Amino acid sequence: MFRDRWCGELRESDAGSKIKLAGWVFRRRDHGGLIFVDLRDRSGLAQVVFSPDVAAEAHALAHSIRGEFVISVSGELRKRPAGTENSNIPTGMVELYAETLNVLNESAVLPFPMEEAAEATESLRLKHRYLDLRRPELQNNLVIRHKTTKLVRDYLDGLGFLEIETPMLTKSTPEGARDYLVPSRLNPGYFYALPQSPQLFKQILMVSGLERYFQVVKCFRDEDLRADRQPEFTQIDMEMSFVDIENVVGIVEGMIGKVFSDVLGVQVKTPFRRLSYAESMERFGNDKPDLRFGLELKDMADLVGQSSFKVFLDALASGGRVKAINGKGMAGLSRKEIDLLTAEAQSFGAKGLAWIKLKNGFESPITKFFPEEILKQMAERLEAVEGDLMMFVADKGKVVNDVLSRMRLELGKRLDLVKEGFEFAWITDFPLLEWDEEEGRFAAMHHPFTSPADDDIEKMLHLDASASGLHTSHFPLLTSFKAKAYDIVLNGFEIGGGSIRIHRKDLQSRMFDLLGISEDEAKAKFGFLLDALDFGAPPHGGIALGLDRLVMLMVGAQSIRDVIAFPKTQKAFCQMSGAPASVAVKQLRELHIKTDIPA
Ligand code: AMO
Ligand code: AMP
Repeated sequence: MFRDRWCGELRESDAGSKIKLAGWVFRRRDHGGLIFVDLRDRSGLAQVVFSPDVAAEAHALAHSIRGEFVISVSGELRKRPAGTENSNIPTGMVELYAETLNVLNESAVLPFPMEEAAEATESLRLKHRYLDLRRPELQNNLVIRHKTTKLVRDYLDGLGFLEIETPMLTKSTPEGARDYLVPSRLNPGYFYALPQSPQLFKQILMVSGLERYFQVVKCFRDEDLRADRQPEFTQIDMEMSFVDIENVVGIVEGMIGKVFSDVLGVQVKTPFRRLSYAESMERFGNDKPDLRFGLELKDMADLVGQSSFKVFLDALASGGRVKAINGKGMAGLSRKEIDLLTAEAQSFGAKGLAWIKLKNGFESPITKFFPEEILKQMAERLEAVEGDLMMFVADKGKVVNDVLSRMRLELGKRLDLVKEGFEFAWITDFPLLEWDEEEGRFAAMHHPFTSPADDDIEKMLHLDASASGLHTSHFPLLTSFKAKAYDIVLNGFEIGGGSIRIHRKDLQSRMFDLLGISEDEAKAKFGFLLDALDFGAPPHGGIALGLDRLVMLMVGAQSIRDVIAFPKTQKAFCQMSGAPASVAVKQLRELHIKTDIPA
């Protein structure tokens, strides 16, 4: 037996007992007579004392052990002498007086000291992820992740959901990112796609009458990576039959409530607040608002329209918008600091940043273009008072929202406005269709299987599809269609999204019409789902939560890399395994693949 207790669980009440521990040497201090070792296992640290008076042999051997050696020790647990207790660790009241020491394995010199592992560069830590993962912080993240997953499974099981696996070697799915492709040896020239989500399969499971499906499942998307995006990530994926939005929302809120209370001891308030997509864009400039602070965007068009400031008037005249935010207490900024702020707005895509200080009245190079009364009304709308800085962006609506939403987040941090805690919201009433400038056609905002709102279904079915130029002639109507789609947002992150699906063939065909997807193209891409919809598909809907993002927010990590055991870098590279890597020409030949990249 290597051990009979965990290091981290030892308490004063255990003093006097004979115990055996095993783990890694975190620290060793040689005090001449005594040698102290901080022994670490997953549960925490325990102090082990080697004394020549207690066990000469073990003490002698203890001279040779170094950081990260693996040892097993046995002896008597004693209360530490008065004055030597360590209140920084839970086991700080006791220490183990070693009677035997067994060196189970040695360790090479570490690429970074364990005590300063958190400060090593991320690239070095990812290369030696096995060492990085020895850090209690990362271990705790994985513990929280495990507990969350287990609770999710138990909760959904309790509601009659079945966990059903779907293929990893499959066809392209409609989530809109680039696919990871896998060549088929047995079918030369053909490729599987790794699933971007199990979307099509989970809908088919509903047609099959499985009623309630879930899966904790890996999804793969070849897209530009960020702190909250990995090429492979995990969804808590769900689908259910005979449901509408409220059913899905209720089940997810119950699940989140359970996870937060049981894993974190945090009671979240349900139901979560709801914002329509339009309201979220208007007030926060994006569809994943961080609701832990205000600093909302205000429309200024009616007021600035009464000024003579050409930048604003031109923007409005060309169909653009002017919106503003209030930098609380920022009137003291110097010109230089405001220039930096302007540069920041420009880096977010703005042409410039107009500003007006409230400092002994209104102060700005542009006040001359504004009647005093308008300045006052602008301040009123922004709730700006003496000491504040009003900031304006004029541009196309999309740019204005994008820039100001990012400025809002930046200032929220800088002005220390972000409250502690968890602010959930549902974003609802998404537009069904989104005009794709590049492609010159509509795209589904969520995916092509998302149901229109009840009110829009009849309008959509009754559109005169035979008219050529369907898209442009019906533009205002089409852009007014809303989807039965919903996103769940937490602290400024989209942690999940889903929809009620189209289960009627006629509606699905019309949807493809509107998206400019021909019958042949639809058949080639999603034929198996469309076929299935022919045979008594029930009304159904679902959602997928991003497990990595959820856990990241639960533990307060800055990146989902910190809650994934073996994550990839921004370049989708695994520093540890070296994937992706080149392969032997023979392997490529078997796959009938030629590349023009020199070996
Ligand atoms: P969606 O594409 O919104 O929906 O994905 C669901 C959730 O998965 C998370 N997510 C990611 N997390 C980390 N890295 C990524 N690259 C990444 N991409 C997405 C997000 C997101 O909200 N089939 C639909 C769901 C449905 O309609 O039921 C889907 O996949 O948190
Ligand atoms: P200019 O007329 O270029 O000297 O700009 C006057 C002020 O308006 C400067 O503070 C610019 O940063 C700002 N500005 C220029 N373009 C925009 C814009 N599109 N939106 C907001 N402010 C702008």
